[in-house]
Amino acid sequence: AETKLWGGRFTGAVDPLMEEFNASINVDRRMYRQDIVGSQAYARAIAKVGLITEDERDALITGLDQVLAEWANNQFVLQPNDEDIHTANERRLKELAGPVAGKLHTGRSRNDQVATDMRLWLRDELTELIDLLKAFVASSIERAAADIDVLMPGYTHLQASAFTLLYHSTPTPCARLLPIFLRAQPIRWSHWVLSHAWAMQRDIERLTDLRKRVNVMPLGSGALAGHPFGIDRQALAQDLGFDAISFNSLDATSGRDFVAEFLFAATMVNIHLSKWAEDLCNYSSKEFGFVQLSDAYSTGSSLMPQKKNPDSLELIRGKAGTTFGSCAGFLMTLKGLPSTYNKDLQEDKSAMFQSPAVVSLTRSCVQIATGVLSTLRINPEQMRAALSVDMLATDLAYYLVRRQVPFREAHGLSGQCVARAEEKKCSLNELTLEDFQAIHPKFEADVSDVWKFENSVDQYSASGGTGRTAVLEQIESLKAKL
Ligand code: ARG
Repeated sequence: AETKLWGGRFTGAVDPLMEEFNASINVDRRMYRQDIVGSQAYARAIAKVGLITEDERDALITGLDQVLAEWANNQFVLQPNDEDIHTANERRLKELAGPVAGKLHTGRSRNDQVATDMRLWLRDELTELIDLLKAFVASSIERAAADIDVLMPGYTHLQASAFTLLYHSTPTPCARLLPIFLRAQPIRWSHWVLSHAWAMQRDIERLTDLRKRVNVMPLGSGALAGHPFGIDRQALAQDLGFDAISFNSLDATSGRDFVAEFLFAATMVNIHLSKWAEDLCNYSSKEFGFVQLSDAYSTGSSLMPQKKNPDSLELIRGKAGTTFGSCAGFLMTLKGLPSTYNKDLQEDKSAMFQSPAVVSLTRSCVQIATGVLSTLRINPEQMRAALSVDMLATDLAYYLVRRQVPFREAHGLSGQCVARAEEKKCSLNELTLEDFQAIHPKFEADVSDVWKFENSVDQYSASGGTGRTAVLEQIESLKAKL
């Protein structure tokens, strides 16, 4: 008998592989509640315009309550034809409530339905995520206030390569040398802690702002053209807790910029946490020894018994890359789509829910970070030991500036002092008053005050600086935002 070479896979109906390819139920099932709540409100809306009777409305609502209970109790049994959460819920509703279920979808399409479900889901998720971020900021404020008097070196251009090169090119472990070579100024530890809290605060504001755009209702847009039976969309929006309704059905059924925006905002959270984690990885290394992670957030090495690794921090840093991948991937999905609904849009759910799951990854990153921060032990003595007077060359220039020497000139004179110290193979504060005065007559005995790190730090008293009063002011203004 003659058989077609390619015929084996075909069944006459839909190719089973296509069936599986098309289905999204395993991804979108987590919107079961939003789908049901949306349908119940929709039943009320079509009853109001007489499309169904009040009895039919009540039958639909009761039936949907039963479906909801099945999901909630893990009793919902999926059937092979349950393509997505919308078809699954309607199929089960029909089994429970009978033919009246066939009236629920009047004037509605899965296109406006799915966009509505996504927005309901994300709206609640945003509220929870924002609360987690607030906990991180609150923990930062607490730690900053408690450790206000701890000083440490601040770094610019800290690069792993410079670090490695330096570490391996000197005979002794050289944490103490690092600040000298990496051009640091002394700062408050709390200033570092709060710098990350401010970034997180902006993320909170970004997500809060995004929530306004998410909380707009597409329901009543139909497949693409609108609603033919005169429902009151404003009332429906109110029923579902939306702040506003969409005003263009073509846009409403295909617009997914709210998803892309969320993916970006969540990725930004993770990238901020990645920077925070990278700093703490360095600070917790033996070479720095500034902080110590609690055992709750560390792991050991299977080979080297002495090791305690900051895996929590490394994972946070790593997952930022993963979430960015989802964000970039979904933007590529949107690129090149024509107007209105296209099935490509079903990918929006994979980006949000599935692996790599931006939502769950972001939640755990923020929670782990808060845990790490609240249990972190700091070593103020080590931080202090890492300060060196060489870092105060800028302060030496400011000393002259306060005595009316123009900054550019003072900068050069301070450089001459550094050179003089190198010549004498001593540190800056070991230069004699004669040494200083040979460089500029405005140096006087009180130049010795320059070598007090507290003085150095506290001169940055203008708002936003690392001085004690400025950091206290900073804590107050961040608290006010929470
Ligand atoms: N599962 C689909 C999605 O997630 C629902 C919308 C289907 N609409 C359609 N015209 N095929 O996007």
